Amino acid sequence: MYTFVSTCWSSSETFSSSSFERQSGSFITRRRTPLFTRPKQQVRVLSLQAISQLEKLQKLTVIVADTGDFEQIIKFKPTDATTNPSLIYQASQLPQYRHLVDDAIKYGKSQAATAEKRIDHMRDKLFVNFGAEISKIVPGYVSTEVDARLSFDVEGSVQQAEKLIHLYEEIGVPKNRILIKLASTWEGIQAASILEKKGIHCNMTLLFNICQAASAAEAGATLISPFVGRILDWYKKNKGQEYTADNDPGVVSVKEIFYYYKKFGYPTIVMGASFRNKDEILALAGCDRLTIAPKLLKELMESDGEVAQKLDAEEAKKKNLERIPTDEKSFRWLLNQDPMATEKLAEGIRSFAQDIVSLNKLLDKVLV
Ligand code: E4P
Repeated sequence: MYTFVSTCWSSSETFSSSSFERQSGSFITRRRTPLFTRPKQQVRVLSLQAISQLEKLQKLTVIVADTGDFEQIIKFKPTDATTNPSLIYQASQLPQYRHLVDDAIKYGKSQAATAEKRIDHMRDKLFVNFGAEISKIVPGYVSTEVDARLSFDVEGSVQQAEKLIHLYEEIGVPKNRILIKLASTWEGIQAASILEKKGIHCNMTLLFNICQAASAAEAGATLISPFVGRILDWYKKNKGQEYTADNDPGVVSVKEIFYYYKKFGYPTIVMGASFRNKDEILALAGCDRLTIAPKLLKELMESDGEVAQKLDAEEAKKKNLERIPTDEKSFRWLLNQDPMATEKLAEGIRSFAQDIVSLNKLLDKVLV
């Protein structure tokens, strides 16, 4: 698929017989056999511009950048951006973001607290500093994650979410721009229910099974992030099998959740996350949102292949689906019955918690 664009030539130009010539991602029409030479004046030439897969996907799905690196976000012009402790830990070590770390340290030092508490203040401020910078680049939501060590603590999660929102508001970022990311544990979902009632929007992360999605929607979460790649990782490791985009268990899981939400009219946004390859992304074209790491955004930008709509809310009407129980006992039972989701949720919490600890150590080191 190509779009027509016009180009202006300011010097004399020889036109030759028709052929297509690739020029940095665009096609320009030229004639090969000299026909005439125009005098020095501006003339309009019709050119053909190849549309990238990223642009085609943008017509079907809201694109979100999954990174804490601002330069990458600027490059791909996404609507929203997501971060997690691992991404902020990586970005904090880049010299160009040192001023955000320094500001967080200054803030932490100004808080009357124990050394340990001061580090917590600094880390929260660091997350907010990154989020605030990102909010200047993207027009939509910015996701900021609550400390993963609070994944089983409803009250602690609510308090930290409120503190993050307070820090954002202090520097002029309104709460309607922020999604508070919480692990999709039973406690995380209860915290989301409380926060949404207070007008704080939530993004339910580490979501691997439809029982988590059903409970998050009942809790009124603004958005869920069903993981794709981590599900594929588990199946490849445990079943010793290779998968295509069509039978990729991560892709199948997001489709199941998407149709469940559309069938029963839940407004919660479905944002596929955690991708391992471009095909997984294209297999979910039409999903509400997709959060994509820079490496895969680049691949989509550099390709001009076709993009077909794979998910369509209208299709949900035809599906024969049953409601999933969302009480605590059913949630815990259904989750426990799925070894992949149980293991991946636990591992994900451990890994994000480890990155929080690493971030604390980094701040502690800079502080000394
Ligand atoms: C985004 O919100 C998730 O944290 C992210 O997509 C996880 O990706 P990963 O499985 O590649 O770490």
